[in-house]
Amino acid sequence: MFGKQNRVVGLDIGSSEIKALEMQKFGDGYAITGFASTRVHSPDETRAAIQEVIATGGFRTRRVVTAVSGRSVIVRYVNMPRMAPDQLRSAVRYEADKYIPFEVEDVVLDCQVLEPETAPTEGEQPEMKVLLVAVKKSLIEEHVALLSDCNLTPAVIDVDAFALGNAFELHVTASHREREFEDRVVALIDIGANKTNINIVRGGNSYFTREVYLAGNDFTEAIARRLGIDEEEAEALKCEPRDRVGEVEECILPTLDDLGNEIQLSFDYFENQFEREVEEVYVSGGSAKLPGLARTFEASFDRPIIFWDPLENLPIRSDRIDEKAMLARSNQLAVVVGLASRVRGKLT
Ligand SMILES: Nc1ncnc2c1ncn2[C@@H]1O[C@H](COP(=O)(O)OP(=O)(O)OP(=O)(O)O)[C@@H](O)[C@H]1O
Ligand SMILES: [Mg+2]
Repeated sequence: MFGKQNRVVGLDIGSSEIKALEMQKFGDGYAITGFASTRVHSPDETRAAIQEVIATGGFRTRRVVTAVSGRSVIVRYVNMPRMAPDQLRSAVRYEADKYIPFEVEDVVLDCQVLEPETAPTEGEQPEMKVLLVAVKKSLIEEHVALLSDCNLTPAVIDVDAFALGNAFELHVTASHREREFEDRVVALIDIGANKTNINIVRGGNSYFTREVYLAGNDFTEAIARRLGIDEEEAEALKCEPRDRVGEVEECILPTLDDLGNEIQLSFDYFENQFEREVEEVYVSGGSAKLPGLARTFEASFDRPIIFWDPLENLPIRSDRIDEKAMLARSNQLAVVVGLASRVRGKLT
């Protein structure tokens, strides 16, 4: 799909910060060869912000891998009778109205076999688990128009939660820990500004994803409300509470508890469906640095919480990048790393 192209820019159009990261493939290896990011204060600034990161990143390609997210993106895990891939595509289209709340003609559909169920019980038809993704055509069209306005060519349009999964897979590979994670069930939690992405993975496959609309902005609002200050001041205090950390923690605790409960519900659902426990929780996103978050999550989930670094062990061409600026926000870069990692040839 990338043809002779050996580099691509991952472009994470976050609601509060646009991140762009170029990755280049060298034979079997790869490296990060460019990076830029900028804040956005309202959706009207998005286009200009994309243009800015593209202009300042020193990228050598205009091919981008981006992602869509939100309520127009539907991800379902369904059981289907075992069948060949081309048959599956038409079966999924035919039965799509069973699984998605939109008209079939209004969506782009994609599917992937997760794993054929082993040894069906006697007399039963063999089944397989299928991952079904439906995205409203109107959202894709809007997205492509935005990219084309910025003179960018979409190479792949992904989904945030899967990009997060790909970043984690790259992290495992780069750290030579494939054997360790082969059968381990881990939950990836990316807490941004507008939403929290949950992706429960095992051995490079995703088994559950969900977006919870509770994240950084809600913590800022809670601080503003409780302290009677404006949002700008609350945002600054949240990110650098210094000696007011106790006060900030107190303001955000109810919201943090709500988020913890939502995540726990997802774990419960997954554990019921798959009869496997979530063994570890890997947290990323700008809001991972929130004061009190580690303590609340540890108490709510009663399993190891790991604040992982999506850039750890990845090769970086430091002559082309302001490495210090990039590393300072590495917790925010899981999605963009996952997007750019598609240059290595992983297209699903
Ligand atoms: N030190 C910090 N402490 C707490 N929160 C922080 C800190 N630094 C950044 N944040 C918060 O992280 C959020 C930005 O993170 P991120 O870049 O992951 O979000 P985004 O991708 O723009 O949002 P979304 O994915 O929801 O659209 C903001 O809400 C910001 O307030
Ligand atoms: Mg984000």
